Amino acid sequence: MTEQDDSRLMIRPEYKPKAIRSYVIRAGRITEGQRAAFDDCWPRYGLSLHHGRLDLEATFGRVAPRVLEIGFGMGDSLLAMAQQEPDKDFIGIEVHPPGVGRLIKGAADAGLDNLRVYMADAIDVLDDCIPEGSIDRFQLYFPDPWHKKKHHKRRIVQPAFVEKVRTKLKPGGVFHLATDWQNYAEHMQAVMEVAPGFTNAVAPGQYAERPDYRPITKFEQRGARLGHGVWDLLYRAPVSE
Ligand SMILES: C[S@@+](CC[C@H](N)C(=O)[O-])C[C@H]1O[C@@H](n2cnc3c(N)ncnc32)[C@H](O)[C@@H]1O
Repeated sequence: MTEQDDSRLMIRPEYKPKAIRSYVIRAGRITEGQRAAFDDCWPRYGLSLHHGRLDLEATFGRVAPRVLEIGFGMGDSLLAMAQQEPDKDFIGIEVHPPGVGRLIKGAADAGLDNLRVYMADAIDVLDDCIPEGSIDRFQLYFPDPWHKKKHHKRRIVQPAFVEKVRTKLKPGGVFHLATDWQNYAEHMQAVMEVAPGFTNAVAPGQYAERPDYRPITKFEQRGARLGHGVWDLLYRAPVSE
């Protein structure tokens, strides 16, 4: 095998075997630019499941509010947020290599130092890497809706997942979810309203206005033009247990 073949094989997400996954590994093409980003930018921005528990203070070289986003897709909105909020440190988790490549290239072009990325299954990252009580804001934007009823078990928002999120939040931290699929919004709300340790930050049973910090994505703009709705949900962990 040539050296080039070998480096190509390495652009793979990290995940442990599990019965049900919330994603499919897409064969998606990776552009030469995204591939080059892994060579040039991964050492600066990439984090690995295999390094185990993350020392956030050492990673970012400071103590700052921390935001964690699962499934950032192509990363445009996470990049915009990291630029808009330089006082906060951002961790993104995504299994789709082209999106990871695009985000780390964007971060390097913008000279960001407040962003790090896992190319891994978020469940494994939460289990193995993220310390308890370390995250101020948890973001889950437009997760795969898994439209068919027989696939609903693949939806990432389930009681066990939400409980994992809660343990990672600081007291008073926020879990922010958004979806453009009404049936998933209702499912999210049903799970979150009864999730131990969470309170609806707006009012029981209410959706939230989009907070200013969440940029509107191109996909969302297109949906709005077509008359599709978007539902934001904001839930807070108790200030003290
Ligand atoms: C529908 S896309 C939305 C992407 C982006 N948040 C947006 O708003 O455009 C959902 C993304 O979540 C990622 N994803 C799903 N389950 C994941 C998991 N367990 N760990 C990491 N990423 C995941 C998928 O690869 C996909 O890119």
